[in-house]
Amino acid sequence: MSAIAPAGPATVPAPAAAGVPARRWLARFTLTERALHWVHATAFVTLLGSGLVLYLPPLSELVGRRPLVKDIHWWTAISWAGALALIVLLGNRRAVARTVREIDAFDADDRRFLRGQRPAPQGRFNAGQKVNAILTAAFALLFAVSGALLWLGERNHAFRLEGTVFLHDALMYVSLVLLVGHLYLAVINPKTRHALHGMTRGTVDEEWARVHHAKWVAELEAARTTDGAVSPVDQNAT
Ligand code: HEM
Repeated sequence: MSAIAPAGPATVPAPAAAGVPARRWLARFTLTERALHWVHATAFVTLLGSGLVLYLPPLSELVGRRPLVKDIHWWTAISWAGALALIVLLGNRRAVARTVREIDAFDADDRRFLRGQRPAPQGRFNAGQKVNAILTAAFALLFAVSGALLWLGERNHAFRLEGTVFLHDALMYVSLVLLVGHLYLAVINPKTRHALHGMTRGTVDEEWARVHHAKWVAELEAARTTDGAVSPVDQNAT
């Protein structure tokens, strides 16, 4: 991973069989973005699993070894924060900044999308994905703060604040609901599960993207057809 990635092709043409038009792949997620996603996902699932074992009495009794589960929970949280910071520091920060900017911008089509009105052509992220990403970031921060307070509170009564346990547990339940919806769209729903190719290999089929992210494809095409211009994806290909 490098801070400034070398320019690369925005589209990767696949070899065409006789008479069959070549399938074109669009660069969707850089290596840095994918690393951030999978580190966060792995840590989240480990934290959720160990958190549920600590929290739900039937699971606690079944697993036993409470101190070990607590250690796993705590050290996963520390490694999660450290790994995310390292990836951002050593990775493609321009790509991360661009993704944050895109997620933070809601236009009229995004508002139509959220109200269920169609057509509502979408950019690289649809409005639902933007909301999911914002909630994920906000929850991660709240999890970290409430978790740190719980840890400190076990060592010093001054840090035992009313509502910390409730906040940490409520976040766990809401995150679980979000995750189930996210997993349904990412691996089950036939219309959206092609997105997994983007999060694993970095690229998606142009025709699929045209249906789900029409404005993004139009932006890439405009950048490609402007003489001498380098598209945003070209700059962040790795
Ligand atoms: C463990 C299995 C998981 C799978 C298979 C998965 C799959 C995916 C895929 C395919 C995308 C890309 C969607 C696109 O093309 O834009 C994505 C994006 C994302 N994922 Fe995951 N994910 C997983 C876990 C998680 C977890 C645990 C979290 C956070 C708690 C998470 C948070 C996000 C966020 C915030 C995005 C960007 C916005 C969005 O697409 O909703 N993912 N994930």
